Amino acid sequence: MTEINIRISEQSFQTLIGLLKEKTGLNLDYYRRTFILRRLKARMIRKKFSDLKEYNSFLLSNQEELKKFKDGFTIKYTYFFRDWDVYATFQNILLKCLNVEDIKKYIEELRPACNNIDKLRKKRKEMIEKEIVNAPSLFNNLKKLSIYQLISNSRKVKKPLTIWSCACATGEEPYSLAMLLDNLARTFPIINNNYQIVASDIDKLAISDAKNGIYSTEKLRNVPNIYEQRYFTQTRRSFEMLHAISSEIKDKVTFLNEDITKIHNYPWKFDIIFCRNLLIYFDIQNRKKFIRTIEKQLKEGGLLFLGKTETIFQEGTSLEIIDPIHHIYIKKN
Ligand SMILES: C[S@@+](CC[C@H](N)C(=O)[O-])C[C@H]1O[C@@H](n2cnc3c(N)ncnc32)[C@H](O)[C@@H]1O
Repeated sequence: MTEINIRISEQSFQTLIGLLKEKTGLNLDYYRRTFILRRLKARMIRKKFSDLKEYNSFLLSNQEELKKFKDGFTIKYTYFFRDWDVYATFQNILLKCLNVEDIKKYIEELRPACNNIDKLRKKRKEMIEKEIVNAPSLFNNLKKLSIYQLISNSRKVKKPLTIWSCACATGEEPYSLAMLLDNLARTFPIINNNYQIVASDIDKLAISDAKNGIYSTEKLRNVPNIYEQRYFTQTRRSFEMLHAISSEIKDKVTFLNEDITKIHNYPWKFDIIFCRNLLIYFDIQNRKKFIRTIEKQLKEGGLLFLGKTETIFQEGTSLEIIDPIHHIYIKKN
């Protein structure tokens, strides 16, 4: 059966959306229609349905298929230090604010074992390093960054650096940030216990896994050796080797179950927001809501890190791209 044979009327599509909301709590209002259709067609082909109306009836009477369909929309794929060069860039920004000139040593410390680096990036390794070290537009803006105000040498007042990992899935991203900061704090006391990380996701189960903090070996493929030794302990579940993140790192992150498209009333404003690999699923309406939330929650001079394939229309917003390679935006005044 080819895609061409599949019939999806607007009415049956809306029935499906309503049915999923009612039966599973899955709210597809946020997602781009092309993304939903791609997944839906794949499922229909698999179960040999050509008409959505018929597939909907099948879904209604089949709990197993309902669960499988829902799982197809679970997009919580992530791992520690995903897109390693973005973390290296974040670390370099911090080091530049701290007035450290020779940042190569710190890049080395953060580097995963060579054969672990994200496959795509491996080929471009040297180029990436040059980009990280040079990143001219980023470093020209250094003094405008809100974190510069907090951690540059001239500062005496200690105010915490605030970070939000939005759409954090099972917690690998905020824990990677916490490990990176903890590691730097060993050399730079101004960072020590002087940061707050909030992490949120719409998926309750993902948040509960994040709080548990136990991970498969595959999730650690980009974790630098010294980090693995320092921040993880091995544990077994039947025959599988798992890795538990240290309670010291766990305590650094506050997890919340939250929908980014809804109104936020955080008592904090953030210096840094990581929101990676979420926007690709959003339709235009929800992208707009997303930008409104980010503009509200980001401090002036704060930085937004998007995913490697994500961009936003900057026009009419206070956000301006300052690192097009790593997709980093600054909030202007
Ligand atoms: C692919 S993961 C991204 C994880 C991590 N940021 C990364 O880049 O590796 C996308 C996450 O977005 C979450 N998500 C989807 N819609 C959301 C929404 N409206 N508000 C908050 N999180 C949402 C999903 O539950 C999922 O955990």
